[in-house]
Amino acid sequence: MKRLFSGVQPSGELHIGNYLGAIRNWVTLQESFECIFCVVDYHAITQPYAVEDMAPRIMDAATWILACGVDPEKATLFVQSDVPEHTELAWILNSVATMGDLNRMTQFKEKAEQQASVNAGIFTYPVLQTADIVLYKAERVPVGEDQLQHLELAREIVRSFNARFGPIFPEPQAHTGTARRIMGLDNQFKMSKSRGNTIALGEASEAVMAKLAPAVTDVNRKRLKDPGDPEKCNVYTLHTHFSPEPVVEDVAAQCRAAGRGCLDCKKILHRHLMDDLAPIQARAAELKAHPERVRDILAAGAEHCRKVAQETLREVREKMGLCRTGGRIS
Ligand code: TRP
Repeated sequence: MKRLFSGVQPSGELHIGNYLGAIRNWVTLQESFECIFCVVDYHAITQPYAVEDMAPRIMDAATWILACGVDPEKATLFVQSDVPEHTELAWILNSVATMGDLNRMTQFKEKAEQQASVNAGIFTYPVLQTADIVLYKAERVPVGEDQLQHLELAREIVRSFNARFGPIFPEPQAHTGTARRIMGLDNQFKMSKSRGNTIALGEASEAVMAKLAPAVTDVNRKRLKDPGDPEKCNVYTLHTHFSPEPVVEDVAAQCRAAGRGCLDCKKILHRHLMDDLAPIQARAAELKAHPERVRDILAAGAEHCRKVAQETLREVREKMGLCRTGGRIS
């Protein structure tokens, strides 16, 4: 089986954007790849955060990933900072990546524009991401659209490294699922916690409906009798991800024919969304009652990953002429 790596930031409780864009795919992929999934806390610290929030956020992310169906019998789940080799390899790759390439990253440019003072970690973020992937010589990386540029850079770094020190790393390939970019309830920005336009995976049924009710649909459909364009409506897009095929077809037809109002359409979505979320919420509640289970899974994951990571770094140091003890000290 080919090895696959992916990571998610511990930005608190995960939302349906994380679910559709990443974790639901992970659950499928774990059947056909050797999967390593990571809660990337060292990436998260490049943004301001409250110290007391970080540990709960990491546990929450891990809990929801497991609740969504990532199975520790099939896949490895761990926390990035439990495997210090990530940062060691990132330093090494910092000496391969170029300022010019990093400067071109649109995510860096966007973040730098929003902040008065920009820490160096935001700049070298994609180098750490590259280290995450190549530390395990992963060949496939499921990511959303916004990460494709980082993955292209990872391939560039790999090519430079291999050309200079020998062919150690495979070039990682992006694996994009069907939901490459999930818009928020504002139908304007990508769904993200910082925009406040999300539905959290743990949201209670009534709260989900309360958020769906004002969600922006096709803006040209102002009155019930105006025909709508499902392709311009994020509620329709969510239907395509959560509702059965005949429902999706009916919803689109009714929208175009101005047959059904948006609120009724949202109520139908609500029902199917909750059908998906309810079992996930039940599993999350059970895990939250037994946090030691989550901790055990993460510890076993980190232990497994450290073995692989140490082996990779031994090889890397040797190829780079850094192996003075002949590998006696790892
Ligand atoms: N940068 C990714 C994101 O924000 C998270 C991430 C970190 C990642 N390391 C990774 C994704 C390695 C894939 C592979 O979504």
